[in-house]
Amino acid sequence: MTQDELKKAVADAAVQYILPRLEEDMIVGVGTGSTANFFIDALAVHKTKFDGCVASSEETARRLKEHGIEVYDLNTISEMEFYIDGADESNEHLHLIKGGGAALTREKIVAAVAKEFVCIADESKKVDVLGNFPLPVEVIPMARSHVARELVKLGGDPAYREGVVTDNGNIILDVWNMSIVDPITTEAKINQIAGVVTNGLFADRPANVLMLGTKDGVKTVKAKNQ
Ligand code: A5P
Repeated sequence: MTQDELKKAVADAAVQYILPRLEEDMIVGVGTGSTANFFIDALAVHKTKFDGCVASSEETARRLKEHGIEVYDLNTISEMEFYIDGADESNEHLHLIKGGGAALTREKIVAAVAKEFVCIADESKKVDVLGNFPLPVEVIPMARSHVARELVKLGGDPAYREGVVTDNGNIILDVWNMSIVDPITTEAKINQIAGVVTNGLFADRPANVLMLGTKDGVKTVKAKNQ
């Protein structure tokens, strides 16, 4: 199977996972990226079974609307049962690296509101230690050099993601060569640097369920020691 076929299979499985619990007045949180796009397309078939969605990016909002799905402002929502999104890496505790598509901040906000974060990914994303994928950090533009210097002090090797402006008008630094053995501490430390909006570690609020597309079918992993 190709990577896209694995992503589609896991997206279809995620729709089947939430389907029995969908209710007419429910709002579903939706992530960003190629796996999330497969999820949106599969979810659209069932759009009469729930009220609408909150989107974690402009791109996701556009795709949802194209399917005729109502997109709500998060500020109008008091509770959300599910958030479904992809990831760039996951460890066994379902701590994630996200932000390969530069949508990490809105993704983290929507995930914070949801009761259950269902992460969907192909099997290449499951790792023992996070950090082989460069860690995205969203930064206020004027703080770029300062934040880069501070990230070097933390042992990373930051690179400016050329030509990318986030939905929030900020820039992305990708931090290479960090072996992230304590994701909760690293997430907090980076977020304390003045000028950082947030970083792509989802460890303080990890996923609750990881659905992995593998050649042998979709495997559902629950977090260890969460
Ligand atoms: C978007 O900013 C990211 O967090 C994505 O969720 C992540 O990069 C996974 O993307 P794919 O589903 O395209 O692999």
